[in-house]
Amino acid sequence: MLRIGMLTSGGDCQALNAAMRGVVKGLCSRRDDVEIYGFQEGYKGLIYSNFKMLTSRDFSGILTVGGTILGTSRQPFKLMRVPDEDGLDKVEAMKHTYHKLNLNCLVVLGGNGTHKTAHMLSEEGLNVITLPKTIDNDLWGTEMTFGFQSAVDIATDTIDRIHTTATSHSRVFIVEVMGHKVGWVTLHAGVAGGADIVLLPEIPYDIDVIADAINRRKAAGKKFTIIAVAEGAISKADAKLSKKELKKKKEKEKYPSVAYELAEKVQKKTDQEVRITVPGHTQRGGSPCAYDRVLSTRLGAAAAEAILDGEFGCMIGVKKNEMVRVPLSEVAGKLKYVDPKAPIIKEAELTGISFGI
Ligand code: F6P
Repeated sequence: MLRIGMLTSGGDCQALNAAMRGVVKGLCSRRDDVEIYGFQEGYKGLIYSNFKMLTSRDFSGILTVGGTILGTSRQPFKLMRVPDEDGLDKVEAMKHTYHKLNLNCLVVLGGNGTHKTAHMLSEEGLNVITLPKTIDNDLWGTEMTFGFQSAVDIATDTIDRIHTTATSHSRVFIVEVMGHKVGWVTLHAGVAGGADIVLLPEIPYDIDVIADAINRRKAAGKKFTIIAVAEGAISKADAKLSKKELKKKKEKEKYPSVAYELAEKVQKKTDQEVRITVPGHTQRGGSPCAYDRVLSTRLGAAAAEAILDGEFGCMIGVKKNEMVRVPLSEVAGKLKYVDPKAPIIKEAELTGISFGI
């Protein structure tokens, strides 16, 4: 008997179900003695032994379905070693559930925080295989994560729709795109949607350069300017502050989000009317795009192969269009940032996009 535990952890995204389907189909096409234990709401299900037994039939018809059939939750890594309110040792509890069910492997679908815990469980002796899930595309060790392309499509569609309204009004439009630490979604949606200014956490902006770009567009007879800003975009001045100083400043300013802060600054500097659009969690919602369906199916099938090979302690990633097994020790705790010197930045600048620098 092959007993597989499975959980989805952290923020959801498109193609979580498609990836799990890939794993289960990949296993069941080769073995007819597979038992699947689906843990509810991420690591919480593993800690409190909350699971449901699933069959291959539960994974049929979910290729195109958004969200996750297992539910998910954020369980911060830094609290994993802290006992819960009843004094329960969470790490021991997870190990206990795994051994009680006599699992051969735990398949974990998640992003950065999730990978730190997955690595810890692997170090604690559990057989763990992970799949790279996040719209942010910021996981180290893989060129692509599933969810990213779907989110880019949605953010691009938002910018496209703003474009048609922008052609009717002389205004500055700000679209706030998800990504607190990294700007991959903003960069790709900004380029795909033809934004005029793209602001990323990795490239601190100068408000005077932004104002100058807007004023130059106006002087050239362009009626509007569209700014795609990542949630975590930061000004050059703020980037110089310590973490503590920045937190204090933000608490004092009380902007609902970065778009509101930027809108106020732009309005003051350019005297132009500014409007804000925040697509928020719609970027993680709905059916996965075709690219993500293919990617997650391939990743899932490759995870099944690794399980059948008995190779654990790794994330299945993508390198040069091949599915690869990357040791969790290389993935955990590292982020894949946008490189400000990457060719795509230069190419975007050549087409007239300003990064506010
Ligand atoms: O990590 C994925 C992500 O969507 C980020 O882009 C975003 O900043 C964050 O999650 C939002 O988290 P939550 O769903 O907890 O509000």
